[in-house]
Amino acid sequence: DSKESKDQYNEIDDKEKVPYYEQRKWEEEQMSSAVFHFGAKHRDVKEEYDLVLDNQIEFIQALSLPGNKEKDQPEITEAQRRKMNIEETQKSLPIYPFKEDLIKAIRNHQVLIIEGETGSGKTTQIPQYLHQAGFTKDKKKIGCTQPRRVAAMSVSARVAEEMGVKLGNEVGYTIRFEDCTSERTFLKYMTDGTLHREFLSEPDLQSYSVMIIDEAHERTLHTDILFGLVKDVARFRPDLKLLISSATLDAQKFSEFFDDAPIFRIPGRRFPVDIYYTKAPEADYVDACVVSILQIHATQPLGDILVFLTGQEEIETCQELLQDRVRRLGSRIKELLILPVYSNLPSDMQAKIFLPTPPNARKVVLATNIAETSLTIDNIIYVIDPGFCKQNNFNSRTGMESLVVVPVSKASANQRAGRAGRVAAGKCFRLYTAWAYKHELEDNTVPEIQRINLGNAVLMLKALGINDLIHFDFLDPPPHETLVLALEQLYALGALNHHGELTKLGRRMAEFPLNPMMGKMLLASEKYKCSEEIVTIAAMLSVNSAIFYRPKDKIIHADTARKNFFVPGGDHLTLLNVYRQWTDSDHSTQWCYENYIQYRSMKRARDVREQLIGLMQRVEIDLVSNPLETINIRKAITAGYFYHIARLSKGGHYKTVKHNQTVMIHPNSCLFEELPRWVLYHELVFTTKEFIRQVTEIESKWLLEVAPHYYKPKELDDSTNKKMPKNMGKSRAELGEH
Ligand code: CDP
Ligand code: MG
Repeated sequence: DSKESKDQYNEIDDKEKVPYYEQRKWEEEQMSSAVFHFGAKHRDVKEEYDLVLDNQIEFIQALSLPGNKEKDQPEITEAQRRKMNIEETQKSLPIYPFKEDLIKAIRNHQVLIIEGETGSGKTTQIPQYLHQAGFTKDKKKIGCTQPRRVAAMSVSARVAEEMGVKLGNEVGYTIRFEDCTSERTFLKYMTDGTLHREFLSEPDLQSYSVMIIDEAHERTLHTDILFGLVKDVARFRPDLKLLISSATLDAQKFSEFFDDAPIFRIPGRRFPVDIYYTKAPEADYVDACVVSILQIHATQPLGDILVFLTGQEEIETCQELLQDRVRRLGSRIKELLILPVYSNLPSDMQAKIFLPTPPNARKVVLATNIAETSLTIDNIIYVIDPGFCKQNNFNSRTGMESLVVVPVSKASANQRAGRAGRVAAGKCFRLYTAWAYKHELEDNTVPEIQRINLGNAVLMLKALGINDLIHFDFLDPPPHETLVLALEQLYALGALNHHGELTKLGRRMAEFPLNPMMGKMLLASEKYKCSEEIVTIAAMLSVNSAIFYRPKDKIIHADTARKNFFVPGGDHLTLLNVYRQWTDSDHSTQWCYENYIQYRSMKRARDVREQLIGLMQRVEIDLVSNPLETINIRKAITAGYFYHIARLSKGGHYKTVKHNQTVMIHPNSCLFEELPRWVLYHELVFTTKEFIRQVTEIESKWLLEVAPHYYKPKELDDSTNKKMPKNMGKSRAELGEH
């Protein structure tokens, strides 16, 4: 049978041959409960699915057939669930019966591994249990780390609500550039990166009685490093309790790492989830999502839908398509609430996903990976999983970092499916074939530490006085070459001396919760007397992709508005220009609206800017500005980003100087049509091509000035800085970017 699927799979390589409706048919997969823990099967579901209509036109017509609408019987309504007051909800969580045992285990062991299904109450309940059990006496805090900002914010809000306190008082959160805690805070949620930084000011975690490393299975870079750090602290602070909490899997591995710490398992309570696959791979999975959502909405009993997409842009596209079709279907379908969630989404909008669905309506949540384990949204019955996520990757051979969309692992796919079975029996629709699941997905996601640039992590460890990184206690060590490369890069930036020790510059760089290159750029602004401008540019870069608003139906207007901001020199100066004009408008919302600028991003840039100014004061750099000058600004940027230089080569392509990799200027860049001889870029992203984004024109001789130890004159022999004639580059359409 696997052979049959494979043949079919090969056949449809030629997408044109596949009639559209073929892609809407689902295959049901026999799930073995022993392997996937999804429990027993529901037989009747299959029949229901045979009703699913073959193509969209028939599908839409069928919606008006009498009888088809009435069969909906809510399996469980949000209203029912929300009627329970907070206490009842707390008591209903799988962790609740184990409260006493858990506290006892924590008292008896310094380190405890806690394993339980997502949604069992680990993140929201354990800190409260510990508080009730007296662990917050003597002004001690309970800390809980989260790999994601959104999770830290939303979970702390939930806990504050449960405890009936105001967020930021007894319960608070700290994420990069935002501290929502006070003197009174004793339950503190924070990102793993934040705790990593806290080690700099409080290496023994003295103010904490318990530290929970939550979502440990996510294996983010910071979480992985925290394992080594907290393990070390626990040795000389016997009074500190350490909890390592994870969804499933990996518990044994964590236990072994923490000297065979006991594992506390919270028995799962999952309802069966039926898995469906497409018969053929999807050419356009966003579109396939939209159709599947409508299909579910039209044919399936009430219950909310969770869709996993890879990022903000994709979510917005999906949202627009869906809204459009829902509008056209009008009153023929029930109310469908469409709610996005991704990390840049403002928190008031994020909070909406937790609001109860009105009776007789259905909620569809379009989420990034965040909803895989970090956030639990109640009442999800249906999951749609296209099978992709965005991943940061680093090639230690070329030194290239890139953000790419990759297939998820089997472990991820199963976590996603599991989200459908939390409150009732659910269904998961995978937008890929059963064959692809079996043969193309990796078993597990590679931990971040083994696939990303370690520059920042190494700088932080060095700042903590950990000099021998080769022998640092890693759960899984990073590849040797990545570590060496990070050390080399820090050396080139001047953060380390040739013994590998932190320099004075390196110590100052470590003050900034930023990539070392950006830290270096900020510090270099002192010498080039443009700290004010560089702080603004750094703040704008930290929200860069979300500054310009480009709605699908107004692309021409939006692009014209964007082009009006272009200034000679490149995108960094353009960002500076946007910020300056916004400041001149008195930070006006109206101004943003008229110029197709995202107001929220600008507000965030302003907050980040304030924080950066504070950090600049800490390293004793005064804010100075020279509004009429741009060479020094670009030199300061180059002092940080001299690793990211590309030189024009044939056909509008660029080659990176150190690794000779072919890249192109992103069509959104103001240098897209200019094609200067030498450019510096902020980032390299792989979408349809390898694109460099946030690009600035430089002169090659600056490289010798800012990084004489790194560049040799002969590498830069061509320093004429001539420009290619305009329009030598390819048009947007040719590049497949729209
Ligand atoms: O950490 P774990 O996955 O074990 O569960 P949790 O995040 O503590 O979630 C426990 C319960 O709190 C779930 O029923 C969530 O739906 C609920 N919750 C919520 O209603 N709002 C939030 N912002 C976070 C959690
Ligand atoms: Mg959790």
